[in-house]
Amino acid sequence: MKKKTTKRPQIICHMISSIDGRLLVDRWSAPASGIKAATLRRHYEEVGAKFPADGWIVGRRTMQEIVEGTTRKVKASGVHPRETYIGNRKGRRIAVAIDPHGKLHYGQDHIGDDHVVAVLGEQVSDGYLAELRQDGVSYLFAGSDGHDLRRAMEILSAVFDVETLLLEGGGRINGAFLKAGLIDEISLLVYPGIDGLAGMPSIFDYAGIEEDRPAAGQSLRHIATETLEGGEIWIRYKVETNTKRKTRST
Ligand SMILES: NC(=O)c1ccc[n+]([C@@H]2O[C@H](COP(=O)([O-])OP(=O)(O)OC[C@H]3O[C@@H](n4cnc5c(N)ncnc54)[C@H](OP(=O)(O)O)[C@@H]3O)[C@@H](O)[C@H]2O)c1
Repeated sequence: MKKKTTKRPQIICHMISSIDGRLLVDRWSAPASGIKAATLRRHYEEVGAKFPADGWIVGRRTMQEIVEGTTRKVKASGVHPRETYIGNRKGRRIAVAIDPHGKLHYGQDHIGDDHVVAVLGEQVSDGYLAELRQDGVSYLFAGSDGHDLRRAMEILSAVFDVETLLLEGGGRINGAFLKAGLIDEISLLVYPGIDGLAGMPSIFDYAGIEEDRPAAGQSLRHIATETLEGGEIWIRYKVETNTKRKTRST
């Protein structure tokens, strides 16, 4: 019997890395003389804006660096059902945080012009859900532990009516999406600099064991390459399912 597939958004993983594929921008070597760091930094947002996306997704740690809300105790008025809740979206693009344990505090319903949607595990407290409702933040559940990313994407498609989303890191959440076969395209800016230290996180950083092959069964087909001002390179690949070859050597 053919497996039933439910609609999910197209996911474009949009990232910037050093030439050694590293994730942490503050560690990269400085631009060559005559090249402005601001020019190189600007490309990421400008290129991202070229995609007709309905919003963006980040992992909990990346969102922690963006949000400014503080921890507060909100009393729940009873038990909130573990069902999708739509806050004050008002037709805006969405900013999705994958936050299985409900660690993030927003204090408002938006980041910039975009409406916040929290992807949670069902075990978060009723008080936390009450806090999100008070802030006007939307939320949905990715199974009991909050790790069912495919389910979360299906809900975003069905309930929030989104067709395309940018997945914008960090490496851990990119790795989890890769392993789940949820990435359709990669848009990578290669910054002309180096991290250079062994063991630093990379832009795909699946938390697994040595035997894991998170990209197995997936192949990259080149779409385009462009050299941007200052020598930053924008590369685009389509991710194709490859049932014949699991890895490079098989
Ligand atoms: N170069 C770039 O383009 C770029 C882009 C974005 C971010 N960054 C940088 O990346 C760093 C953060 O990256 P990161 O890799 O450490 O963290 P991350 O991917 O932003 O977030 C990881 C967190 O997401 C949750 N998570 C992980 N796997 C999951 C799964 N399968 N299902 C549901 N939730 C899952 C976990 O939250 P819990 O721990 O709460 O369980 C995990 O700790 C920051 O320094 C940021 O500045 C760089």
